[in-house]
Amino acid sequence: MSDQLPAKDVEVLLAAAVAAPSMHNTQPWRFAVEGHAIDVYLDGSRALPAEDPTGRAMRIAAGAATFNLRCAAESLGYRTWFGLAPYPDEPDLLARVVIEPTADRDEELRDLAVQIPYRHTDRHPSDIEPMPESVRIALLQAAYAEGAQLTWLAEDDVRAVLDLVLDTDLREVHDWHRSAERSHWVGGERTTDGIPSDALGPRSATYPAAVRDMGTRPADRMRGATRFEDHPDVAVLSTDYDEPADQVTAGAALERVLLTATRAGLSASFLNQPLEYDDLRRSVQRLTRCPGHAHMIIRFGHSTPDGPRHGTARRPVADFLPKEES
Ligand SMILES: Cc1cc2nc3c(=O)[nH]c(=O)nc-3n(C[C@H](O)[C@H](O)[C@H](O)COP(=O)(O)O)c2cc1C
Repeated sequence: MSDQLPAKDVEVLLAAAVAAPSMHNTQPWRFAVEGHAIDVYLDGSRALPAEDPTGRAMRIAAGAATFNLRCAAESLGYRTWFGLAPYPDEPDLLARVVIEPTADRDEELRDLAVQIPYRHTDRHPSDIEPMPESVRIALLQAAYAEGAQLTWLAEDDVRAVLDLVLDTDLREVHDWHRSAERSHWVGGERTTDGIPSDALGPRSATYPAAVRDMGTRPADRMRGATRFEDHPDVAVLSTDYDEPADQVTAGAALERVLLTATRAGLSASFLNQPLEYDDLRRSVQRLTRCPGHAHMIIRFGHSTPDGPRHGTARRPVADFLPKEES
């Protein structure tokens, strides 16, 4: 085995990693490649101090990037081993992924790697086709395989979540710090990061809505409105504990769930605003009737022709490496 991963493999691995979802598409991760290990760090310069003051969303995003990295490694013929938060005195080092050649592959991760370029957040309404039970179970299993739980909400509990979304929107009305931060990252044309206007989807014609309206700029607030599904399929992703490493675990589970959903022809978007307030986050977890800590509220649907076909833009891979390695 050579001492270093080939440069062309590193390019493939990191391109897969950075295709992961991140709040406002901030891409808050950095990587360091040493021999056959890739270290995943938080990039503090991409923080969202108003909306994510504790860094939870950043760690979830980095967990999702780590999962993509593992899938891509399997598709290149490697086996991966990883440790979360390996050095407590280095809190920004979230994970170390060790990548070794193997003949003994994880076929599921290899199969999910194929979905990485197709996964994206789809903020359009879904059609009303019922979701097959086998798909619901596959998504529960995907979360469980990474050490998290996915809970499908009953119809009344979905209503309760939408009420919490409304509570959050009211709290945010006079929070200029949050809206300034959001308008920095969301809206307009964007070629490397942030959420462009054309990824916002339509506004909802009814309220509370089954979609998060991310628009803050005047032009985005005036975009067309449409009716969203009356009975959205909503699930909550949780972990038993809430240490930083649990948030990274939640991110890996999120990405495994999303890639599994993409493979099944499903779309996904997020209603995470109540989770940005500790008291409402606890209320969301109570709706699952299970102990634990809620990290993501996911609305699943069927992709429709109106929805986007791909995710938003990413920065070039070299931007995520220390300067001498790029
Ligand atoms: C922790 C986290 C929280 C997110 N919260 C929301 C949200 O509340 N509403 C939303 O529409 N998208 C949310 N997103 C999705 C991101 O905006 C999306 O991943 C990013 O813009 C990149 O776009 P893509 O997923 O299409 O690649 C969230 C993503 C993460 C990882």
